Amino acid sequence: MSIQMREEDFTGNAVIDAQHQTLVELLNSTIESVRESCDLEDIFLKLFELQTYVDYHFRCEEIEMGVLDDPEEFRHINHHHNLLYTLNKCISHYGSRHIKNDQLIEEICQCLLDHICKDSQQIKSYIHQHSLQ
Ligand SMILES: [Fe+2]
Ligand SMILES: [Fe+2]
Repeated sequence: MSIQMREEDFTGNAVIDAQHQTLVELLNSTIESVRESCDLEDIFLKLFELQTYVDYHFRCEEIEMGVLDDPEEFRHINHHHNLLYTLNKCISHYGSRHIKNDQLIEEICQCLLDHICKDSQQIKSYIHQHSLQ
């Protein structure tokens, strides 16, 4: 069963929504690879692709939020740094065999789905405030 975005996860910002959807697709293909593949190199290629896209998405989102004159921009950027740090730590723990497949999947899902859910609420309220000004 693959992860799908719910209606309430869409922010109304086309760039961010499209990137969140790409993130979910990459997350699904990473989970599939971790579950199905016996080739560790294949798994790590997926994990690094996901990690690179998350980093790219955060930079784009920070630019978008800057454009929207986000009053909580610094808190949001800090949240991105922490999330990227957690994701990197989780991948390196997997590499050093400190965590197994199930825990890796659980942790990356928690990281990224938490991001999408929280972002959708924050960004929606910024867009709403901005559109009232
Ligand atoms: Fe986001
Ligand atoms: Fe964000």
